[in-house]
Amino acid sequence: MIRKLLLGLLALPLFSTAQQTTEYPNDYLSPEFHAGRRAAFKALMPKNSVAFFFASQVRVRNNDVDYMYAQSKNFYYFTGLEEPNSLLVLFKEPVTILGATGTEFLFVQPRNPQQEMWTGKILGVEGVKDRYKFVNVFTHDKFTASTVDLGKVDSVFTLFRGEEILAKFKRPDPLSRMAMITDSLIVSNNKPVSAGTRGMMAKLRGIKQPEEIAIMEKVVNMSVAGHNEVMKSVKPGMTEYQAQAVMEYMFKKNGSEFVGYPSINGSGANSCILHYETNQRLMKNGDLLLSDCAAEYHGYSADVTRTIPVNGKFTAEQKIIYELVLEAQDSAFLQCKPGVPFREVHSAAARVIARGLQKLGIISEAGQARTYFPHGTSHHLGLDVHDLGSGGPLEPGACFTVEPGIYIPPNSKCDPKWWNIGVRIEDDILITANGYRNLSAGAPRTVADIEKMAKQKSVFK
Ligand code: GLY
Ligand code: MN
Ligand code: MN
Repeated sequence: MIRKLLLGLLALPLFSTAQQTTEYPNDYLSPEFHAGRRAAFKALMPKNSVAFFFASQVRVRNNDVDYMYAQSKNFYYFTGLEEPNSLLVLFKEPVTILGATGTEFLFVQPRNPQQEMWTGKILGVEGVKDRYKFVNVFTHDKFTASTVDLGKVDSVFTLFRGEEILAKFKRPDPLSRMAMITDSLIVSNNKPVSAGTRGMMAKLRGIKQPEEIAIMEKVVNMSVAGHNEVMKSVKPGMTEYQAQAVMEYMFKKNGSEFVGYPSINGSGANSCILHYETNQRLMKNGDLLLSDCAAEYHGYSADVTRTIPVNGKFTAEQKIIYELVLEAQDSAFLQCKPGVPFREVHSAAARVIARGLQKLGIISEAGQARTYFPHGTSHHLGLDVHDLGSGGPLEPGACFTVEPGIYIPPNSKCDPKWWNIGVRIEDDILITANGYRNLSAGAPRTVADIEKMAKQKSVFK
């Protein structure tokens, strides 16, 4: 009985992030959220303008196999719809299209029983209206050269034009047809296309709404569960891909649909390769393992890195470099508050690392620090792992990574005792009214806490 109870307690944290009690998840972004985001974009549009947002295209992987479909993040942000071959058209002022009057028009795939038998349900016009509470919805065949009258607008917002359309979209599919029509309308009406779409999207997506923050918290927790299980289970003799398997199992076990980006699991010298994705090496006693891995949930990605000793205990040199990166990260955290220019987060980390590497004799002057810390400290995080954001002074709702690192590959121009040490520590930060929250604080960061976690029993060991 007690044994059963204990096993039950052990199993509990595995399910703690996304408890699912209905047939499908019921915590998607609401139709009201998407409507609010469309309203926010329209508020930024100038008088008498129109904007076109296309779904992502379906991409062939090989022969009959497509890549897993990934919706355009802007299209998803405004609609929630995850189906291909769709187009959203937003007007600043109401117009009448196909007998419907309004400022928002959505063109979607029609129902197709034959196709649905192979690849699953297509929502169709009625399904989209019902699920997303979208009013003016039409099938994509209704979008023709005479659907939208560009003669009457002053400016157009779109992210895809001419050559880009040829390069990205020109395929015999409904999405390409709509993209080509849009482009030829712009050309034939000689309308200026605003360069502002990306900046407007950055302004909106760079500040997370409460519903988005709730999803970010979940996806970061799923990612933390993976990192903690890897810390407990990893040991010499395991391969990098087995560590990856533990990580990604935990993501899925906790409800994640995808990984946010290909998992990076670099051990030994591979820990010094910034985006190492091969993950094929056998890990040895004395190696570090740098795991930069995170889940995706309802379109949002986390981005978490932990660097751990494969045998559970840092060597003296590993500890010194690790604690320098930790100090840099702590120093960067101090800049995480409203009003601070975004670049100051990086500057703070870079100063600590330059000073520390000089003190250790690894470099002789601060300017050489980029050899071992060659990347920025922060990027915005959200629908894209490298998300859109303003880059200006920090504001509440900004979500970004803080990820300093030091990488000393073999044959570096320093004492060989430092070779093969690659350390990155990456956490996900949310700016609040007064400061910040570290959303990924559930994964140990200090040497003592990591070594303690390594001693815990894993479900895989
Ligand atoms: N995982 C990619 C990055 O840290 O930017
Ligand atoms: Mn990152
Ligand atoms: Mn990362």
